[in-house]
Amino acid sequence: MDVSTTLSRLGNAASSFLAGKHQLFIDNQFVDAKSGKTFDVFEPSSGQMIAKVAAADAADVDVAVAAARRAFETGPWSKMVPAERGKLMNKLADLIEANADELAQIESLDNGKPVTFARFIDIGGTIDMFRYMAGWATRINGETITPSIPGDWHVYTLREPVGVVGQIVPWNFPLAMASWKLGPALAAGCTAILKPAEQTPLSALRLAQLIQEAGFPPGVINILPGLGETAGAAIAAHPGIDKVAFTGSTEVGKLIVQAASGNLKKVSLELGGKSPVVVFPDVDMARAIPGAANGIFFNSGQVCTAGSRLYAHKKVFDRLVEGVAAEAAKIKVGPGLDPATQIGPLVSQEQLERVTGYIAAGRRDGATVVTGGKRLGDDGYFVQPTILADTNPNMSVVREEIFGPVICAIPFDDDDLDRIAREANATSYGLAASIWTTNLGIAHKMAKRIKAGSVWINTHNMVDPAVPFGGYKQSGWGREMSHNAIDLYTETKSVFASL
Ligand code: NAI
Ligand code: MG
Repeated sequence: MDVSTTLSRLGNAASSFLAGKHQLFIDNQFVDAKSGKTFDVFEPSSGQMIAKVAAADAADVDVAVAAARRAFETGPWSKMVPAERGKLMNKLADLIEANADELAQIESLDNGKPVTFARFIDIGGTIDMFRYMAGWATRINGETITPSIPGDWHVYTLREPVGVVGQIVPWNFPLAMASWKLGPALAAGCTAILKPAEQTPLSALRLAQLIQEAGFPPGVINILPGLGETAGAAIAAHPGIDKVAFTGSTEVGKLIVQAASGNLKKVSLELGGKSPVVVFPDVDMARAIPGAANGIFFNSGQVCTAGSRLYAHKKVFDRLVEGVAAEAAKIKVGPGLDPATQIGPLVSQEQLERVTGYIAAGRRDGATVVTGGKRLGDDGYFVQPTILADTNPNMSVVREEIFGPVICAIPFDDDDLDRIAREANATSYGLAASIWTTNLGIAHKMAKRIKAGSVWINTHNMVDPAVPFGGYKQSGWGREMSHNAIDLYTETKSVFASL
């Protein structure tokens, strides 16, 4: 497929954005990188280059940190009352909504995902997140406390913004991930330096234009596209940054922790997963089959909570696997901007090689390919929805995050919930799990036994701005969304007054 077909599907607004210059956004100005360097952005259904984007490195991070520090300490942002911050955030949400179709096209073009999903899930979710967090701006309060120390006291806490924050986001939900990071930081009164992923920097740069249009003061939000090893590493290590928030691979999460130790900046991490989908014999098959299929194939499996291990009781295993295979065969795989597409290509050549490499390793290790298993076509980064069976717990396809449309189907022949949970929990990750049963007791007993930040009952991949989200074990540190996200961006100060 040629890139011109995809480009011809863009509306005028997205086309003219794409044709423009793609620079860094620092102190409310669009500027080139100091080095003059750029990096190339590729369109995933053709593999062809569509844009050159300014590549920030350490020198640009220095300038952005200085701007963010000024805005935080002395700029208009530092004097703004909470309601004004909330108002700006709502204005930004309104502008995103007014430009939602264009943003969805940009997201689909850059990431490869189906444009209708981009519109409702990515862009819709971004709008919801900014509005939800805008409401928090006026609700961040301390408390008064009665101490037991003899004497007359007035003791209270203040909740203060943590300061200048660095935010590094991945490519699977580019704009939505930016909103998960920026929303609570702005509500809390922080200033931010956001680095989008090098695979998908475009929607964040369109967001930068809307930030300017909304009227945020200079330096409050700085957007620095660039490579992980340069711009990302400089943010993680910067002594002028008070907190770093990261979503991405567990491997890079560990590097962030090390880099952050220089000034002991606060760290929050949303990392990988290998989430189990646990199916009991009393399941409602009409829900479980599409549920399990969606749980792994949605967004081409490039979801940190993807249900990548299908654990099903022997009594329902065959029917379930046949059902999911039939769903897989029905899915229309195609370019994101084709309105008929249900799943798009993977994001990059690197991910294509990674996912097909895992499938090959699974075959070598003796797994059976029930359906799929191949790259689709010669252009772009398409992979068939794939089910592997006859796996064992030592195989890399069972242990490691594949981050593609690949599920391992594993039967269990047991009624002991502790043993089932032990198997479901047998991973270094702990991001999410789903439980499929019509028995209320089993559902909630299993929910307790699962070691993961999100447990879904008869559903999968559900998130909401009001519900905490994050990981146990090596899936991360801290919780985003809800009041938990505000905690990540505030310090608590205790004040003792001896009266
Ligand atoms: P990655 O972790 O390298 O990239 C995520 C972000 O971190 C990007 O913005 C990148 O530029 C930045 N980054 C990379 N190296 C950095 C460094 N040394 N210091 C600071 N920032 C750095 O993920 P990648 O390589 O794109 O994907 C590899 C695997 O990671 C995927 O196959 C998947 O398993 C996992 N992943 C998980 C995500 C999640 O949502 N939890 C999202 C993206 C990837
Ligand atoms: Mg990487």
